[in-house]
Amino acid sequence: MTQALDIADLKKKARRRVPKMFFDYADSGSYTQGTYRANEADFQKIKLRQRVLVDMTNRSLETTMVGRAVSMPVALAPTGLTGMQHADGEILAAQAAEEAGVPFTLSTMSICSIEDVAAHTKTPFWFQLYVMKDRDFVGNLIDRAKAAGCSALVLTLDLQILGQRHNDIRNGLSTPPKFTPKHILQMATRPFWCLDMLKTQRRTFGNIVGHAKNVSDLSSLSTWTAEQFDPQLSWKDVAWIKERWGGKLILKGVLDVEDAKMAAETGADALIVSNHGGRQLDGAPSSISMLPKIVDAVGDRIEVHMDGGIRSGQDVLKALALGAKGTFIGRPFLYGLGAGGRDGVKLALDIIRKELDTTLALCGKRVIADATSEIIAESPF
Ligand code: FNR
Repeated sequence: MTQALDIADLKKKARRRVPKMFFDYADSGSYTQGTYRANEADFQKIKLRQRVLVDMTNRSLETTMVGRAVSMPVALAPTGLTGMQHADGEILAAQAAEEAGVPFTLSTMSICSIEDVAAHTKTPFWFQLYVMKDRDFVGNLIDRAKAAGCSALVLTLDLQILGQRHNDIRNGLSTPPKFTPKHILQMATRPFWCLDMLKTQRRTFGNIVGHAKNVSDLSSLSTWTAEQFDPQLSWKDVAWIKERWGGKLILKGVLDVEDAKMAAETGADALIVSNHGGRQLDGAPSSISMLPKIVDAVGDRIEVHMDGGIRSGQDVLKALALGAKGTFIGRPFLYGLGAGGRDGVKLALDIIRKELDTTLALCGKRVIADATSEIIAESPF
């Protein structure tokens, strides 16, 4: 683990440790994966301004995200099936985030339940909500998040229907799941992963199984999920959810200026400029390319964060300089988790922290508030 110098190293290690179907699940985008690639590639088009002979002592990465003090402006994004990268993955990632002083966001589609994660952490985490057609189930899920002490609700807007990921279908992660002997063999070639999985006590998909009507196992869950994403979800539902939740609300998956204006109108506390890590609309622009336009349009009315394609502290700094108050990472922490469980997630965060700190200093700045457009040498966005 100590040999991992960057997120790319962690990715290589995760590929060796996690069964192919689950590594691919984390690593893939939808259809041609063009948007997924653009998310990463567009960061390289932004150039930072090198400054010299500036006092670089007394640096700090501390700031706030949605009113919460954070040790750096990087939160863990909600990711489904995190517990398949490593046994008890959501608990381990939440603990690593807690230790690092950054927010953890638990997905509706997590393996460990809200209650499991709450029982194994002390710091309140954030909960990500998918709005299902069964609104009683949704209301109940909101109540469970409140009871578990979650301190913000992240409402995902960009998954009313599911973009297709070809790798998942090839790997048997379809509806219903279709595992062949080849897939079982792939798991058997990852003995450490298998042993950890055999030891876990968690109920799989604990937010849903046993709580949604007629969902008692993996097969019924997969059918239920496919039917339950709501193609009629509207801004009116956001108002209902805001009222039912009553706490900090973050709207995730806004990529268009008009939608950003609607999001600001709802009175939500923050939005996340995101295309779901290139897993939904293939052909959509990268998140970083849309960030400045959205900040211009609504940045004075709602806190604007971004995710998608961040693979280093340099990327985090570029996002801040283009106007983000904070950033979220998905795959970087999943690679860490697959590579080395809790320590791997901690290492992913440490790598990004050191990169961010050094890069800020080399731009001649000392604190996060200094990460403004002033540090950009060139940007096409
Ligand atoms: C996701 N994402 C996601 N988003 C969400 O709101 N709910 C979810 O359950 C999931 N599930 C999920 C699974 C996996 C494996 C990935 C990679 C992503 C999207 C996620 O929150 C975030 O928007 C992206 O991961 C950000 O892009 P990067 O950092 O992965 O490039």
